[in-house]
Parts: sequence; C-alpha cells; structure tokens
Amino acid sequence: MSISLKNRSLISISDYSPEEICHVLDIAEDFERNPHQNLLNGRIIASLFFEPSTRTRLSFETAIQLLGGNVIGFSSTSGTSIQKGESLADTITMVASYADLIVMRNPIDGSARFASEVSKVPIINAGDGSNQHPTQCMLDLYSIRKTQGTLENLEITLVGDLKYGRTVHSLVEAMSHFNAKFNLVSPIELKLPRTVKQHIKDAHLEYEQFTELEEVIPHSDIIYMTRVQRERFPDPLEYEKVKNSYVLRNAMLANAKPNCRILHPLPRVNEIHVDVDANPKAYYFQQAQNGVYARQALIAAILGLK
Ligand code: CP
Repeated sequence: MSISLKNRSLISISDYSPEEICHVLDIAEDFERNPHQNLLNGRIIASLFFEPSTRTRLSFETAIQLLGGNVIGFSSTSGTSIQKGESLADTITMVASYADLIVMRNPIDGSARFASEVSKVPIINAGDGSNQHPTQCMLDLYSIRKTQGTLENLEITLVGDLKYGRTVHSLVEAMSHFNAKFNLVSPIELKLPRTVKQHIKDAHLEYEQFTELEEVIPHSDIIYMTRVQRERFPDPLEYEKVKNSYVLRNAMLANAKPNCRILHPLPRVNEIHVDVDANPKAYYFQQAQNGVYARQALIAAILGLK
C-alpha cells in the first residue's frame, strides 16, 4: 500500500505511524543525495516563530529555498499585530489565506494542535512549549538511523531536562515503536513526565532512571544530551539548583561503544564540553544539518509532492 501524507498536519510525532515516519526518512535520504529539487515552484510557506530559534527556523527556510518555494512570516512577535492583542485563532486564519502550509513555533503547550483545528492549510509544529517538537524528532530519527544503520533494538540514553524537554518527549514516543531500551538520566526534579513514560510502558519496553551519567555511557548506542531550559522554569531559583547537573567531557567517552554517537538538539550551554567536539562520536552538528533534509521531506510529503 502506498503511503500519502498529503494535507496531514504534524503536531505530535504520534500523529504519524512508524511506517509513515520511515517513509519521511526515506524521502529525506533522497533529499540528502539531491537537495536542489524545484518541487514547490513558487508556492508560499508561512514560518511563524513566536519564540526564539536558530536551527529550526533557518533549516526550514533553507529547505523551502532548496525546494524553490517562497517564505513569509516572522521570527518574533514584535512588529506583528499580536502586540496589539490579536488572537492566535485570527492570526492563523489570516495566514492560512496567504500560504499553502504553516510552520509554527509557540511557547504554549497545545497551541499547535489548536492552530491545526482553525487552519484550512496543514500546520507543522516547530515546537510548542514543553510539549512536542516533532520535526526535531524526524531529524533525530534520521540521524540515529544514519549512524546506527537501523532504528531497531537500540539503547538510548537521554540526559538532562527530561521534564520540560520537548525534543525528549517526541523522541521517547517515536523510539517506543522500535524496541528501544531507555536510560533516563536526570536530576530528581527533572524526571520524564508520567504521561511520556506511559508510551514506553504501553510498548512493553524497558527503562531505567539514573541521576548519574557515567555508569550508562559504556552500554549506550546513542547519548542524547539536552540543555536545562531556563525559560521553562516557573521559579528561577529552581533553575539555579539544577542548571549544571551534567557536563559531558571527552575523557568520559573512553569506554563508549565504537558505534556510540552523541546527539544534542542544540543550542548547548554547558552540558557538552567543547573538548568533545573533535571526538568522532560527536554528531550534533551533522544532526542539525540533517534537519534540512528531514524538513524538505516533510514539506514535500505534506504538500503531496513526494
Ligand atoms: N533544536 C532546536 O529546536 O533549535 P532552535 O531552538 O535553535 O530552533
């Protein structure tokens, strides 16, 4: 049976089945081999960023340009009528009449789902609060499959802010389809939420929770580091207590498996020392580059062009 994602918004990674996820990764592989494909032929994509971004916004814009499309939008709400009190519903309704597809990042959990309910064109969630970041998840899965040769039966170590980390939430949901074993490394205050852990339990998979990183490094296939996100903490003093909980240094990787790769959605603050950058196991900058191919694949698939 052929797979079509035409007109299918991507709000949560669980909106797509494992087969549909792998279909997107296959298309991304094609874009990595041949990135210049004029499929959009002047179509307009809206890029609405209500919250700061470097990689997600710029890789979407790169993807659109490589596909021969045009971008409209904003990179912050300053200078928009949101400052005058315009509602999200009205903003989305208007932009949907200008563009073929809307990419949106917003600090409020659930805002992307809401946008998809009022929009007449598909919505791609580029991160909603601490909830989901499904396009980051696609490039994470692409990076894992590319470096490990498979998504199946891997030991995935997730480190840092597992409570507020939307990239972690999406990745746990996705890897629960592929028989992963999860090591959850976090301060007690930043443990993975129960609702996300439920995906692991529903798939009858193993997970262990740790507060120390070093003991899990030797048996990890993927070490997924994350930033403790100051902007998500209601109490700044709570952030101060946990902000430097984990710092991965090159010496700590001496006993890592040969296939082990270090991923990070970026931006990093202190959690990966720069002495890791020259280690061949460091993959975070290539991971960010893979975001262009994954986002080309999503745009092309959702617009029914692949
Ligand atoms: N990984 C990620 O979402 O990075 P940006 O916040 O820079 O887009």
